[in-house]
Amino acid sequence: MQDDREGQMQQPQFAATFDADRSEQFGNRLVDLLNQMGLALMLGIGHETGLLDVLARLPPTSSAGIAQAAGLHERYVREWLACLVSAAVVEYAPASQTFALPVEHAVWLAHSQPDFTPGGAFPGAAILAEAFACLMEVQPQVMACFRRGGGVPYSAYSRFHALMAQERNALFDRILLPSVLPLVPGWGKTLERGAQVADFGCGRGRVLHLLAQAYPHSHFTGYDISPPEIAQAQTEAEQMGLVNTRFRLADVAGLDVAGVYDYALAFDAIHDLAQPEQALRAIARSLKPGGSLLMQEFAASSRLEENLDHPLAAWLYAQSVLYCLTVSLSQGGAGLGCMWGKERALAMLAQAGFGAVEVKRTTADPYSDYFLARLSTEA
Ligand SMILES: C[S@@+](CC[C@H](N)C(=O)[O-])C[C@H]1O[C@@H](n2cnc3c(N)ncnc32)[C@H](O)[C@@H]1O
Repeated sequence: MQDDREGQMQQPQFAATFDADRSEQFGNRLVDLLNQMGLALMLGIGHETGLLDVLARLPPTSSAGIAQAAGLHERYVREWLACLVSAAVVEYAPASQTFALPVEHAVWLAHSQPDFTPGGAFPGAAILAEAFACLMEVQPQVMACFRRGGGVPYSAYSRFHALMAQERNALFDRILLPSVLPLVPGWGKTLERGAQVADFGCGRGRVLHLLAQAYPHSHFTGYDISPPEIAQAQTEAEQMGLVNTRFRLADVAGLDVAGVYDYALAFDAIHDLAQPEQALRAIARSLKPGGSLLMQEFAASSRLEENLDHPLAAWLYAQSVLYCLTVSLSQGGAGLGCMWGKERALAMLAQAGFGAVEVKRTTADPYSDYFLARLSTEA
């Protein structure tokens, strides 16, 4: 409120049109939000402690029985169960004081379930809930960045990367070969004969591990800026007995590799980079003439108003604030954010020298756009 000329307080304009029903509905949404926040945190704990997996394989069981099966303290388990019952995730029978996770819920939440096939959405809502909770470890630093600018470096995240890798592994194990590879006609045949493939921002390397296993005549190189990710990718490749992968510590934007690869991959990576434009140019340079890039990004528009129907928009923008945006800004980077969107991505791909770009979708990964970007054969 402001002082008017006579020194009296003016009512803000909106007061005259205050819609009490609308306000009450919003208040109810906030109550619901608090319940969902509580549930999300407990689902994360359920994943990490193994409680969700234990519940998925037990018949209706007492809290003591569940605690014993999970090797955990009963009092904590009982309170945790109370949250999940209140949120209508777990069923409770008061007469027998037993708890059960319906199989329809278990297939979404229990990672070790044999029927763990949650119909094309997130392979691990509970893993993501825990990953999101982990982001809160940097919340004070991110808030400081709101005031002074800059960002939070990768090294500040102690558990987030491991959890994201779990979620990504569960996703790619299920969809890479049957659903993503068919998006790129011709790749399968070339990979069978033998091709050179690079994954830029490869993280812990699961995509390349799966491809290397499926296509032993091809060679796969993963690049990432993070030493722990590269070390883990290498270790897992050795554990799988792969001889056709190699992992290199490198900043993609500074990579000096020319005309080597038939195919390039950049999954969930370009928006995190400090220098995405330079990185896309370096990727284009690394390809042989006629080579192509498959880039996966969250399916979104570059215009906020076109993302309002996106079922996960608020969650993704929040993840962007707490991770994608801030890691890029910590390096003085572009800070694209994970919702940078299709229009901007297409413009950047064109600037980097990709002549023809198709945006592909698969129902197996409904929240992603797959950009198939080709270099012209004259390049
Ligand atoms: C969100 S993760 C995605 C990992 C993997 N591609 C996937 O789909 O799960 C983004 C990866 O990009 C890496 N990265 C960020 N900036 C980079 C840069 N300049 N050069 C190479 N890798 C980078 C990060 O270390 C991280 O592993």
